[in-house]
Amino acid sequence: MNEWVTRFRQSLGGYEGTKVYLADWIAGEILPRCKPGYILDVCSGLGSVSYRMKLENRPVVSIDTQLYPYYSCMAVIENGTVRLAKDAVDWLLTGNANAYDDFHQKTFEGKYLPQFLLKAIDRIRYNIRYADAKEWTSLSTRAIALVALGRAILSAKAHSNFSTSKPATRLRNETEFFDLFRGLVEKINALVFSNGQENRAYFADGPTAVKDTARWKAPVAALYCDPPYVTSRSNPHYWATYWFIEGMVTDWYDVRSGNQSLEEFRVRHDVTTKDEVVRLLEDLVNAAAHIPLIAISYDAIGEPKPDDIADILQETGRNTSIVSRAHVRHKIPSGEVLIVGMGKATRPVEPTPEPQPSLAKRVIQTLQERELEESIERELKNALSLYEQGDTEALEEAAKHAGIRV
Ligand SMILES: C[S@@+](CC[C@H](N)C(=O)[O-])C[C@H]1O[C@@H](n2cnc3c(N)ncnc32)[C@H](O)[C@@H]1O
Repeated sequence: MNEWVTRFRQSLGGYEGTKVYLADWIAGEILPRCKPGYILDVCSGLGSVSYRMKLENRPVVSIDTQLYPYYSCMAVIENGTVRLAKDAVDWLLTGNANAYDDFHQKTFEGKYLPQFLLKAIDRIRYNIRYADAKEWTSLSTRAIALVALGRAILSAKAHSNFSTSKPATRLRNETEFFDLFRGLVEKINALVFSNGQENRAYFADGPTAVKDTARWKAPVAALYCDPPYVTSRSNPHYWATYWFIEGMVTDWYDVRSGNQSLEEFRVRHDVTTKDEVVRLLEDLVNAAAHIPLIAISYDAIGEPKPDDIADILQETGRNTSIVSRAHVRHKIPSGEVLIVGMGKATRPVEPTPEPQPSLAKRVIQTLQERELEESIERELKNALSLYEQGDTEALEEAAKHAGIRV
């Protein structure tokens, strides 16, 4: 295995759907076909493909709608020079000894993580937030610290997944967590390098950000996209897996400011169905008419089928082909495809009609937009948290009571 893959994996870890093991293959398929200019990595996740392209000295733009991925790409893609020094880490772990607030300890008591970890998170998170006055603070140092903390929390949580609320961990005490954090900062620091280009990380919706690049003076050579994969066996649930980390990196802004209750925050929407993947790809392809090469990763047995994705590219007048290779996913032998469209688009794709929003999304909208009786509001919020644990019936019942179409 390539040395960079090991270093990337050990520092930023196993993000759901990561392409770290496939990035050499993906780069080998894209780079020989593309001219000089920016490579856009849409749905970048933690940035493994961006990093691989950066190693090739290409200018790279990483785009994702989640903030934890954004901070990861800020730390190791956009940032090419700044590292988080040992003194700064010492201060993050020991500063403000009695000042930090107890949001995590109070809000999640008895759930998700043991109390000693919630306390450690409160402290580090508070110090990252209030390090503004320190001479070493910058967006890059903050990004390195937040990503190291996010990764430490995911490593500490059993199965690295916040869809289960059991407070299980393999760590014994706060010191072990602090050591984990220190080690991760060191490893993330070691990923930082400059390739002499102006690389960028965006926290943005893919199609919107891509459309914007049509106005750039610098040429965009290729658009690579790695959307959430839907198959008949599985639906991706990035938010359900990572909501705790997303809350932590935003300091729970939406929850603390009362914009959303914790229940609503926990069931925010993702791209989780075939129709939503199709819609995302159609919007993206239409936004990228000015880009001469589009490459889309997908599961060989995914829904939509690779041929259907190729049809979307073909419809715009691009010369389209599919390359594939074997891949092991979740320890099961599987196949990975790359759908490549060459040449600028000569016409747009006719978008399929907007998919019906999921029931959970409609319930959240109702909670935000309608004045409800207190008991109905309580029932809906309760049902949303049961839904998150896999109980759809309660949500349907509660929605019927509230007069929401099921
Ligand atoms: C399969 S993962 C990407 C993994 C990534 N290639 C890596 O190697 O880590 C899919 C990503 O798509 C992002 N995503 C979903 N909808 C998006 C959108 N409309 N625009 C940009 N990113 C989006 C999710 O937040 C998630 O990080």
